Amino acid sequence: MARIGVIGTGVMGAALSLNMAEKGVAVAVHDLDAASIGRLIDRAGPLAENLTAAETTEALLAALPTPRAILVMVPSGAVDAVIDGLAPQLAPGDLIIDGGNSDFLDTRRREAALSERGLNFFGMGVSGGEEGARHGPSLMIGGRQEAWGLVEDILTAIAARHEGEPCAAWLGPDGAGHFVKTVHNGIEYADMQMIAEIYGIMRDGARQSAAEIGAMFEGWRTGPLSSYLIEITGQILAAEDPETGRPAVDVIRDSAGQKGTGRWTVIEALKLGQSASVIEAAVAARAWSSRAEARQAGAALFAPAGGGAGAPAVDELGRALLAARIIGFGQGLTLMRSASDAFDWDLDLARAAEIWRAGCIIRSVLLDDIAGAARAGLPEGELTHAPAFSAMLEETIPSLRRVVLAALGQGLPVPALAAALGYHDTMRQARGTANLIQAQRDVFGAHGFDYIDGRADRHGPWGA
Ligand code: 6PG
Repeated sequence: MARIGVIGTGVMGAALSLNMAEKGVAVAVHDLDAASIGRLIDRAGPLAENLTAAETTEALLAALPTPRAILVMVPSGAVDAVIDGLAPQLAPGDLIIDGGNSDFLDTRRREAALSERGLNFFGMGVSGGEEGARHGPSLMIGGRQEAWGLVEDILTAIAARHEGEPCAAWLGPDGAGHFVKTVHNGIEYADMQMIAEIYGIMRDGARQSAAEIGAMFEGWRTGPLSSYLIEITGQILAAEDPETGRPAVDVIRDSAGQKGTGRWTVIEALKLGQSASVIEAAVAARAWSSRAEARQAGAALFAPAGGGAGAPAVDELGRALLAARIIGFGQGLTLMRSASDAFDWDLDLARAAEIWRAGCIIRSVLLDDIAGAARAGLPEGELTHAPAFSAMLEETIPSLRRVVLAALGQGLPVPALAAALGYHDTMRQARGTANLIQAQRDVFGAHGFDYIDGRADRHGPWGA
């Protein structure tokens, strides 16, 4: 008998199946495309003894003990169809896990519908790409906690480990796992964009070569910026295009794709009355990047950006990136807390940060401190206000300010770095400027405002 079934033997489904097989878990695998199952079994080598090919879902279910656990690894557009086909064949207590990058709102809907039929449903965020899935992903799980025991040993066995601790956790009911994965991706977008902006400052402002910029990122592999994204950026900038002999990064088109998770993060933040502005800037920058023709026309029309300035000190840029990264993570955490309140998830932010410490794309040395700060309780819900981080920001914000100022002065786009600074400057201002907004709203819409002495919902002395 197999312990778990996997439907979908594409890149991620195959990698997770092999990971489970390697950990001694017997897996029944099914795919609509029988050839894909065959390829997986062939690839598995000796691990094939832990894989059972199931040509139909009936065969897959027959290979599983009850209650059955089935992991669905199909493109997000196909999840409903797979569930619709599977659910009638299941019995109360069985568990379906959607391990794709699904919108958490779909996960909530699916969970509610399946739970009415007595079935369990998990939305599971899987981070780390194919390599992570094969050798140790970070797994963010949401659904009914009662069902966690059914698969906990399997999922913790295949997950990445941080100092021996598995990076897999049940985080809350219904869409909690997929939401945490969505925010993970939002933070991933923000971090990637800020790294790209720093690259732009060096390439276009300081006229440095890819190799020179790569060496700077290499130097950040240790220390407070140490992270997977910094590591791969160093590698990328050092790589050569075999066809042309030029730096690989110089021959790649400057239009970034996006599948939706960054956008969902931003949309949900706005729906919750928040704004994850650093993530928003990153989503916007990707959208703008795809408008290549408009940018070409703009380049012909307007004076070129400054450039040619001396290279900013590497330490200065590093401190700027660190400050902005902390703010990006902070916005992600604030958003998770709002969603947790809105959807009644009782989300353990520290646990989420802990399982991001290995396996996932945003893994970073900072996450130890982030988890610690979240465990101690974030003052006013702000990561940046936690003692470890306020101290770090006091040290690094002046660099972020100088780097952003210099870039703006040169006409170099730094929307995410500037958004981070704008957020920070707002959140350290005891008296903001929304008093004027309130007065304006009252003038044209009689919306009312509160006085600073506590008198509420009044109107102003505005003349005609
Ligand atoms: C991960 C990644 C992964 C995938 C994203 C990329 O955590 O392993 O986030 O889920 O690479 O879907 O999203 P975009 O295509 O939108 O950049």
